[in-house]
Amino acid sequence: MGQTDVPQMFQSLEPLPPDPILGVTAAFRRDASPLKVDLGVGVYRDVAGNTPIPAAVRAAERAVIESQTTKTYVGPAGNVDFNERIVGLALGPLAGPLRERIATIQTVGGCGALRLGAELLKVARPDAIVHVSDPTWANHEPLLGSSGLRLERYPYYDAARHEVAFDAMLGHLTGLPAGAVVLLHACCHNPTGVDLTLEQWGAIADVLEKRGLVPFVDLAYQGFGDDLETDVVGLRTLAARVPELLLALSCSKNFGLYRERTGALAVLAPNGGTAIAVATHQARLARRMYSMPPDHGAAVVARLLAEPALREDWQREVAAMVSRMQSLRALLAGKLEERLPGRDFGWLRRQRGMFSLLGLDAAGIARLRDEHHVYVPPDGRMNVAGISDGNVDYVASAVARLLG
Ligand SMILES: Cc1ncc(COP(=O)(O)O)c(C=O)c1O
Repeated sequence: MGQTDVPQMFQSLEPLPPDPILGVTAAFRRDASPLKVDLGVGVYRDVAGNTPIPAAVRAAERAVIESQTTKTYVGPAGNVDFNERIVGLALGPLAGPLRERIATIQTVGGCGALRLGAELLKVARPDAIVHVSDPTWANHEPLLGSSGLRLERYPYYDAARHEVAFDAMLGHLTGLPAGAVVLLHACCHNPTGVDLTLEQWGAIADVLEKRGLVPFVDLAYQGFGDDLETDVVGLRTLAARVPELLLALSCSKNFGLYRERTGALAVLAPNGGTAIAVATHQARLARRMYSMPPDHGAAVVARLLAEPALREDWQREVAAMVSRMQSLRALLAGKLEERLPGRDFGWLRRQRGMFSLLGLDAAGIARLRDEHHVYVPPDGRMNVAGISDGNVDYVASAVARLLG
C-alpha cells in the first residue's frame, strides 16, 4: 500500500481559533504601529514595560544552583518542603493546626493545580457540579471542564455599579444542594478586580458550612491586592470553618516565576485519614498525566521562604509592585475623569489586582484594537500593569472616546 493510501490520523483536524488571551498577544506582536499598547495577557510590568525577576528570587535561584547536588527525580508530590512552606504562606497561623488534615501536591503552576483538583473531584464525586463566577478567568472553564465535570455559573459582577452582585451570588449559593463545588477567587478577581469584603466572606462561609458546599479557592495573586496577609483573610475564614476545601496555589505572579510553572494543590480533608487517602490519589493522578512536576521554581520558592532576609526583601518587592498597580489605577481614573467630566471612575481606584473590566462591548473592544492599537482580550479585561507614564494619556483618550 502506498503512503497516500494509508488513512491519516490527523487529517480530520481543523485549525482551532486562537486562545482568547494568548491570541491577543499574538495579534499585538503583528501590529506594526508605534502607538500600540498591550493590556492583554496577565503579567506584571514595571516602569520600563518589563516583567522583572524579583531580586530576592534571583538570589534564591543562585543559592539553589550552587547547593544543588543532583537532578534525580523529585517524586509525584514534588518538593515537600515547598509544599509545606507555600501552604504556610497562604494559611498562616492556621497551617499548623490544620497540618494533619491537608494533602498537598506540587503542580505545574496554578493551572496544573486547577486541573488536578478537577480530576480529583471527578474521581471522588463524578457527578459533582462546579459553580464558577460569572464572569471568570477565561481559562477556568476549559481547565475544569476538560476533566468531564459539569460546570455552572453563579452571579458575581454588577457591571453597572462595578461591584460584587453580592445578594444574587448569595442567593444562588443558598439554593445549591450539598456537595456542590464553588470556585472562588481568593483575591484580585480575574477579570473584574472586585473582591468580597471580609464581612461578605463571612456570609459565604456561613452558607458553605450550612449547606455542605465545597469551596475550591483559586489563589493566584497573593500579595497583589492589598498585601500578603490581607489578601488571604477570606481563604483563612473558610479554612477555619469548613470540613473540606481545595486550594489552587500559583507562584507565577507574586514570585515572578511564570515560566517555571510553579504551583500547588492543597486539599483540606475532614480528618487525617482522609488526607492520607487524598494524597495517594493526587500522586496517582499526577503519575498518570505527567509523572512529576519540574523542580526549579519550587526549590527557589522553598529557599526564599526559608530565609528570613530573602523573604523580607521579597515582601518589599511585592509591596512595590502593588503600590505601582494602585498608583496606575489612580492615574488612569484621573485621566478618564478629566476627559469625561461628571463620570465617576472611583471604581477603578477601588478595584484590586491587575485587572478591571473597561465596560466596552465587543464592537468597542474591536475599535480599541483596530483604530487605537490598544489590545485587550475579548471580555474587555484590561491589565492595569500594561499602563505606563508614557502611554496613559494615549490609553485614556482612546478609552474615553469609546466610553463617551
Ligand atoms: C485567576 C487565575 N488563576 C490561576 C492562574 C494560573 O496561573 P499559572 O498557571 O500561570 O500559575 C491565573 C493566571 O493567569 C489566573 O489569572
